[in-house]
Amino acid sequence: MLRAAVVGGFLAVDLGALLYANNWIGPARLTPQAFLDGFEEVFGRQLGFRRNHAKGVVVEGYFDSNGNGRELSRAAVFRPGRTSVVGRFSLSGGYPAVKDSPTIARGLGLAFGFPGGQQWRTAMMNLAVFLDNSPEGFYDRLLASKVVGATGEPDPAAMPRFLAKHPETARAMAINEAHPPTPGFADSAYRSLIAFYFVDESGARTPVRWSLVPLQRALPPSMDPHNGLFIPLVRQMRAGPLRWRLMLTVGAPSDPVDDATLPWPNNRRVIDAGLLTLNSVETDRPGNASDINFDPLVLPEGVEPSEDPLLSARSAVYGASHRRRTGEPKLLPIIDVNEVS
Ligand code: HEM
Repeated sequence: MLRAAVVGGFLAVDLGALLYANNWIGPARLTPQAFLDGFEEVFGRQLGFRRNHAKGVVVEGYFDSNGNGRELSRAAVFRPGRTSVVGRFSLSGGYPAVKDSPTIARGLGLAFGFPGGQQWRTAMMNLAVFLDNSPEGFYDRLLASKVVGATGEPDPAAMPRFLAKHPETARAMAINEAHPPTPGFADSAYRSLIAFYFVDESGARTPVRWSLVPLQRALPPSMDPHNGLFIPLVRQMRAGPLRWRLMLTVGAPSDPVDDATLPWPNNRRVIDAGLLTLNSVETDRPGNASDINFDPLVLPEGVEPSEDPLLSARSAVYGASHRRRTGEPKLLPIIDVNEVS
């Protein structure tokens, strides 16, 4: 009952996201529908699955705020106390059955809060910086990665052509290469990458990027040929809760708030806002957090969007992906946690 109520509450908020999606106006060719068609052109039409981050598992837990975040934001989630959380670990890309690989970016979507209260949704990745600073860049990079012909590989000229036009992506790739991924989901740090404004009781606005910093090592990757990263995650979560600290990095006025490819200097002040505990794992299937759209613009009072152009594009495309996938029959889940011994 509780779970049905929780998911129902999240769906109610998604209606707001849909309205936002319908209002999004981007360059003519880049409507949310055109974006989704681009994902389907690259990954095929994967009925019932997210058009990006298709492979995942659902998790639940709670966030214990220590009250330190109140210095920057009046959001209720930063008052001392506990807030429930539902989430989803994922691999980027639109193939639901993709073979796990450490080189594929890992994602964590989280939704804080109960229905009737304010919600905060965030979709984070284990990268140091994001690869694009515009929706058009994301779309063109997506198409440049498309497998062509019988080779099973992308057109070898496509990515160099894209990078020549998008030096910001080439620079971001070099930064990420200097920060190689950890062995698993459990020991990854997950970052907002995009800046947001935190607003305090007096109305003062501070640019913030947040990160979840892991408190455990990961079990080593399993020998399973397809699910070498998800299987150890499921086993580790069954053996006990996993924990991350929520760290708020405080931006200076000179730090970019509209370009997620640019790192902030690493001497910025960081505030430890509390402890995230994830203590249950489930198969990604209709009826649980699988139904949630982790729209980055579902924000509580006290957290506001920055000028980053990715935010409104993401909100619109996530809403369109959510509408498309929830109107389709879903095939069998790729990772059935009950089959992990
Ligand atoms: C223009 C840029 C982007 C586009 C077009 C895009 C597109 C998408 C789409 C279509 C989905 C599936 C949504 C759904 O069906 O619920 C998705 C999921 C996701 N995205 Fe993005 N994305 C963008 C940028 C980002 C950034 C900057 C991050 C991280 C900082 C991110 C992290 C994620 C994560 C973690 C998920 C999976 C969340 C879940 O489990 O539902 N994305 N993205």
